[in-house]
Amino acid sequence: NVDDCDIVELPIAHTEKGNMTVLENKLNIPFNIRRIYYLYDVPMNAERGGHSHYELQQYVVAASGSFTFVLDDGTNKKEVFLNHPNKALHIKPGIWREMKDFSSGSICLVLASMEYTEDDYIRDYEQFLNYRKNG
Ligand code: TYD
Repeated sequence: NVDDCDIVELPIAHTEKGNMTVLENKLNIPFNIRRIYYLYDVPMNAERGGHSHYELQQYVVAASGSFTFVLDDGTNKKEVFLNHPNKALHIKPGIWREMKDFSSGSICLVLASMEYTEDDYIRDYEQFLNYRKNG
């Protein structure tokens, strides 16, 4: 449920020349990364998302700027504001998500546990609620 979708502090390698955060399979991310994508040039008033996944896990990072994720497990909702590249939101399977309030120039980086397949999506909210109730 939404309480299991934690904000994870990512490691930071500080140097005088700037910071670096490294995520590596089997080392410091709880799933193997099979796909990376990122959202950018998102209009400020855009609302994205509006779907759930059966199996997919994701780490979401505000690589630049800020935005808000609204998570919903069919019973409870929570809003998560992301605004720093050393924090990741871990989205577990079976969570309806929407995204909003993208700041100008923001980059939403997503690390995903599976290749893209439309079969893993639930895009209908009633179907999502039914899935959460009855499996
Ligand atoms: P979608 O996941 O619905 O976007 P968002 O949740 O960010 O609003 O994806 C938008 C479109 O892009 C949809 O037609 C599917 C396609 N898509 C891919 O082809 N590959 C991918 O890895 C992703 C994430 C989306």
